[in-house]
Amino acid sequence: MIISPTIAALAYLVSAVCCIMSLRGLSGPNTAKGGLYYGVFGMGLAIVTTLLLPGIESYGLIIGGIALGGAIGAVIAKKIAMTALPQLVAAFHSLVGLAAVFIAGAAFHNPAAYGIGEPGAIAIGSLIEMTLGVAIGAITFTGSIIAFGKLQGFITGKPLVFKGQHLVNAVIALSLIGLVVFLCLTESVTIFWMIVGLSLLLGILIILPIGGADMPVIVSMLNSYSGWAAAGIGFTLQNTLLIIVGALVGASGAILSYIMCKGMNRSFLSVVLGGFGGEAGAAAAASHGDKQVKIGSADDAAFILKNASSVVIVPGYGMAVAQAQHALREMADVLKREGVKVRYAIHPVAGRMPGHMNVLLAEANVPYDDVLELEDINRDFSQTDVAFVIGANDITNPAAKKDPASPIYGMPILDVESAGTVLFVKRSLGSGYAGIDNELFFYDNTMMLLGDAKQMCEGVIKALDH
Ligand code: TAP
Repeated sequence: MIISPTIAALAYLVSAVCCIMSLRGLSGPNTAKGGLYYGVFGMGLAIVTTLLLPGIESYGLIIGGIALGGAIGAVIAKKIAMTALPQLVAAFHSLVGLAAVFIAGAAFHNPAAYGIGEPGAIAIGSLIEMTLGVAIGAITFTGSIIAFGKLQGFITGKPLVFKGQHLVNAVIALSLIGLVVFLCLTESVTIFWMIVGLSLLLGILIILPIGGADMPVIVSMLNSYSGWAAAGIGFTLQNTLLIIVGALVGASGAILSYIMCKGMNRSFLSVVLGGFGGEAGAAAAASHGDKQVKIGSADDAAFILKNASSVVIVPGYGMAVAQAQHALREMADVLKREGVKVRYAIHPVAGRMPGHMNVLLAEANVPYDDVLELEDINRDFSQTDVAFVIGANDITNPAAKKDPASPIYGMPILDVESAGTVLFVKRSLGSGYAGIDNELFFYDNTMMLLGDAKQMCEGVIKALDH
C-alpha cells in the first residue's frame, strides 16, 4: 500500500503533535508515563508513514535494518543498569551524529537521488543545509564517543587540557566556516571530506577538556547537537517530520543544558570551553591529614533518627548503585510511624542523569509531596534535626561555597551541614564524581555510616524495629 502525499503530511502532523505532547508529559513525574506512550505512538506512526511513501524500491534492507537495530536496542534496554544510562545516552547520540554524516555524504555524492540537483550542480541552499548537518553530526559523533569514554571510565574524568587549546579550537572553528563557504563556491569533494575530518577533530577537542562535574551539561548539550544535526539532514531529505523532531530535540536539549548550567551555577560558555579547575581539584584530593572523623553504626543511626522530630533525606548516586530506594522508603515509613517528619531533598545534578533520583524514588512509591527540589528545601536544613545523606557526596560539598580553587566552586549545594546532625551513608571517605575531598565528613556534627547504602538502611530498619 502506498499513501498519497496529503495523507503522509497529515500523519506527520499527528506524529509531530504526539512528540510535543510526549515532551510535555515527560516534564513531570505524574505525567511521564503518558508522555512515553505519546512518544512511542508518534515515532511508530512516523516510521510506518515513511515506509508507505512512494519511491521505496526494496523493503528487504529496511526491514532487515529495523529488525537488527531493534533487536540490539531491546537487548541493551533489558540489560542496561540504571546507573549506566548516561553513557548509553551518550553512545546513542554518537549514532545520530554518524547517521547525519552518512546521509549527507550520500546526498553529496548522489544528489539526484535526493532531488537536490546533479553532481557538481547542487542547489546552494541544499549545500549549506548539508554541510551544517554534516559538521554538527561529525562533532556530535566524536564528542559523544569521548563523553561515553569519560562516563564509562575508559578516559579520565579529569579535564585534559593543553596550552593554546582554546586558540586551536577557535582556529578549527574558523577554518570550518571558511571551508563551508569554499564548498558552496566549488562543490569540491576534497573540501567536503575536509569539513568532515575537521569536525570530527573538533568534537574530540571540545569534550576532552570537560571535567567530571560538568559532564551532565555536556551530555545534554550533545543531545541538543544531535537534534540540530537531524534537523539539518531533514532539510536535505526534504522530510518535514525530521526537521520538526530534530528541532524539538535540539531545542529541548538546549533548554535542559541551560537549566543544568543554572543548577550548577555555570555559564554555558565556560562549560563548553571546559578545563577549569581540574588541577586544583586533584591537589585538594591529596590527603585527609590528621582530621578526626566520627564513625557510627546502624544502631547509632537508628537511635538518632528515632529521637529526631524532622529528617531530610538527601539521596545521591550511591543510592542508585546500591538500589537502596526501596529499603530507604521502608526506613522512612517506620520513622513516619514513630511521628518523625520525613522529607527528601533533590539536587538538580544528583546521580548521573537529570531526574535520576526522582525516577528511583518514584519507583519506590515515595509520595511526590515528600520530594522537594533544592531551592524549596535548602532553607529548612537549619531547622532540621537530621540530614540523612545516602550515597551523595559532591552535591553536599561545602568547597562549592568556600574554595574558589575547587572545580565545583559556585555550584549550589544542599546545605546539609546546617542540620543538627548529618548522617553520611557511604562505603569509604573517598571522593565523588568530581574527584575532590569533602570536608563535611570531618565536621563535629557529622557521623559517617560506612557501608553499602541498602545494607545500612536495612540495618537501621532492624534497629528501629527493636
Ligand atoms: P557523587 O558525588 O558521585 O557521590 C556518590 C557517592 O556514592 C560516592 O562518593 C560513593 O562513595 C558513594 N557510593 C557509591 N556506591 C555506593 C554504595 N553501594 N553504597 C553507598 N554509597 C555508595 O554523587 P552525587 O552526590 O549524586 O553527585 C553527582 C555528581 O555526578 C556531580 O558531581 C555531578 O556533576 C555528576 N554528574 C551528574 C550527572 C547528572 S545529570 N545528574 C551526570 C554525570 C555526572 P564511596 O565510594 O565511599 O561509597
